[in-house]
Amino acid sequence: MTDATTIQKIEKGFAKLQASPECHSLLKKYLTKEVVEELKTKKTALGATLLDVIQSGVENLDSGVGVYAPDAEAYTLFKRLFDPLIEDYHNGFDAEQKQPATDLGEGKTAELEDLDPEGKYINSTRIRCGRSLEGYPFNPCLSEENYLEMEAKVQKVFNEIEDAELQGTYYPLDGMTKEVQSQLIEDHFLFKEGDRFLQAANACRFWPKGRGIFHNKDKTFLVWVNEEDHLRIISMQKGGNVGAVLERLIKGVKNIEAQVPFSRHERLGWLTFCPTNLGTTVRASVHIRLPKVSARPDFKKICDELGLQIRGIHGEHSESAGGVYDISNKARLGLTEFEAVKQLHSGVKKLIELEESA
Ligand code: ADP
Ligand code: ARG
Repeated sequence: MTDATTIQKIEKGFAKLQASPECHSLLKKYLTKEVVEELKTKKTALGATLLDVIQSGVENLDSGVGVYAPDAEAYTLFKRLFDPLIEDYHNGFDAEQKQPATDLGEGKTAELEDLDPEGKYINSTRIRCGRSLEGYPFNPCLSEENYLEMEAKVQKVFNEIEDAELQGTYYPLDGMTKEVQSQLIEDHFLFKEGDRFLQAANACRFWPKGRGIFHNKDKTFLVWVNEEDHLRIISMQKGGNVGAVLERLIKGVKNIEAQVPFSRHERLGWLTFCPTNLGTTVRASVHIRLPKVSARPDFKKICDELGLQIRGIHGEHSESAGGVYDISNKARLGLTEFEAVKQLHSGVKKLIELEESA
């Protein structure tokens, strides 16, 4: 049973959302009075409450989504809030639907031809997926010991990678100089520090302990450790060769999953801290310059209709610079990994066609 102070905070949070005309988050949309009443006393086995789920969206009224799952059980225990929100975000994936079996696209990457062989539009292509280590909850429920133990576990895995292209070095954030860290962020390789959405969700405790980045020599294969998710596995390179980027990602995922088991949910697929990343966890993106199309007032609408999301040059919650946009697949749940990448591929192909015919 949740204590009275927490219940009070939940009720105050609900009132704050209701009273904010500037707040348009999915949290506000689906946290009704009835949902609050039904869920406010519930607690997961690890002690997480509805407050842990909603506090980021309550503190950050400009959230698009506003919720996180403190542990895997939260997705089930608080499903009256999560289910409609997930359905809304992931193209109508309803409570009866199930994430299809994993299909990363092995043996099919050649179908994804280079989107920009002449190098006219695309600076770079990146595909990432998230993974959670089996047996550990998400950030708000992790202890300092958990972080260090998880880091040691994956570091061992990195050291044992045999594939020559993927081999590299793990760089813990703890002890990294500010210059190196800033350069890695500036060059789009490393996560940012001080994300207020994550901070409010209690996801940055003990920072920088247990956090870090692994990458190969060319920085084309990278793994983020314990930022938003336990692992973010990333493949990226210059240009628009989506197939080559996916091929390397598949190799990387296979290398790692051969050594550590990951948490998968029967219905929701690969588990992640944020419901926007469930299922495939795949975000495939290009950094692209489309001067004519991006100047159109309906640029966002065109992208929406193609199932694409627009981000800025430094990722989420950043602005475009020099006319370069980060365009990626929006939905990650209810389709296979390969389908998610194909959505990006066919959508961007269409945008380039529009640019050329404008
Ligand atoms: P995530 O992709 O993990 O959800 P972000 O949106 O914050 O998180 O992006 C993380 C980093 O990856 C940012 O520095 C962003 O600029 C970079 N990035 C994303 N897509 C590309 C791309 N196609 N080419 C180069 N960098 C990219
Ligand atoms: N909680 C933030 C919001 O609602 C981010 C949501 C999606 N992004 C993410 N990195 N999980 O705007």
